[in-house]
Amino acid sequence: MKIGIYPGSFDPITLGHLDIIVRASGLVDKLIIGVLKNNAKRPLFTVEERVELIKQVISEKLNLPEIQVDAFDGLLIDFAAKENASIIVRGLRAITDFEYELQIAQTNHKLNAKIDTVFFTTSVEYSYLSSSVVKEIASFGGDIRQFVPKSIVQPIYDKYKSVRSI
Ligand code: PNS
Repeated sequence: MKIGIYPGSFDPITLGHLDIIVRASGLVDKLIIGVLKNNAKRPLFTVEERVELIKQVISEKLNLPEIQVDAFDGLLIDFAAKENASIIVRGLRAITDFEYELQIAQTNHKLNAKIDTVFFTTSVEYSYLSSSVVKEIASFGGDIRQFVPKSIVQPIYDKYKSVRSI
């Protein structure tokens, strides 16, 4: 059984992530979406919330193979080995992503040569998209409907409402 890991912060999941999930799931028998727990980026959503949002989005998508959504802590390569994954999936939006991704992929391969990183070039319509851009727009009440799956539009606005009322 071929297992792949698609890791990330997913704060929140975007249509760009979903596009990679759908395409990567064609490569493997099981895709594990690994949501980073101890994130130095101080995420908007807790790790439990990010996992739930992804599960919600996945449940609405038909014809996907087995997909598991899990939080992970520590080194990605250790998580991948524990889950018996043979590939790590990452998306490349632009040349600016490349340097960082190359460094991490090579480091991970040095740590465990049994696991390879596979890159998907982002579909052109999502090449500009990032979770940070979505958050910036939502924080000012802008329209994020074309950037994230339908079912998580309201949870993102609600999150900003609750953050403001603290
Ligand atoms: O969505 P992101 O924030 O670009 O995802 C980055 C992620 C989670 C893939 C990366 O930060 C990661 O793998 N973190 C876990 C720690 C680790 O293994 N670092 C790489 C070794 S240098």
